Amino acid sequence: MAVRVTWLGHAAVQIDTSAHSILIDPFLTDNPAAKVSADDVSADFIIISHGHGDHVGDALKIAQRCNATIISNYEIAEWCGKNGAPNVHPQHIGGAFHHPFGTLKLTIAHHGSMLPDGSYGGNPCGVLLSVEGKKIYDACDTGLFYDMKLIGEAGIDLALLPIGDNFTMGPEDALRAVQLVKPRRVVPIHYNTWPLIAQDPHAWAEQVRAQTESEPVVLEPGQSIDV
Ligand code: NI
Ligand code: MN
Repeated sequence: MAVRVTWLGHAAVQIDTSAHSILIDPFLTDNPAAKVSADDVSADFIIISHGHGDHVGDALKIAQRCNATIISNYEIAEWCGKNGAPNVHPQHIGGAFHHPFGTLKLTIAHHGSMLPDGSYGGNPCGVLLSVEGKKIYDACDTGLFYDMKLIGEAGIDLALLPIGDNFTMGPEDALRAVQLVKPRRVVPIHYNTWPLIAQDPHAWAEQVRAQTESEPVVLEPGQSIDV
């Protein structure tokens, strides 16, 4: 069975395997781009890439309602535990763990990570998942870095890359990221949530098609792709 990846808007992504549902950065209720709210989704595991409000989002609320396990870096996992998360699993950059849904390794990301209440959120992370034989790389919030080439050596079936600019890679650097990661398919995220990160994903997809071997897939919030 395919692994289904659904873009919920901004950086919120749901991954459904045959047995588990995993949410990454579930910022939904206050997310102007999202078509669903925190009460509409369910998850067994919630991965938080870094401490910013547009990524921590509704994670605590969803975790409490679904008795889900929050996975994040050590600092954010501790913070979630202190703030009412029922179960947390701390990891950190470079470390992989075999969870019931598959293997998750946290990767480097060049960004910030302060939590919504000003607490220290450690270093921001990217997400490298190996689920049911498929490799998914979500760069999360980051600037371009050359080590993406190393991540790509794993053979990535699907990459999720920010293209919004201002806070993360913009379209040009995201195109270079595709050239480094060389994923089979790539989905742009973290754009058009607010005017500050307005982008034309179809123009970007044209460039990916013309200048790389990867297949770009532009999703609307709520749409899925089977990996
Ligand atoms: Ni951020
Ligand atoms: Mn962000």
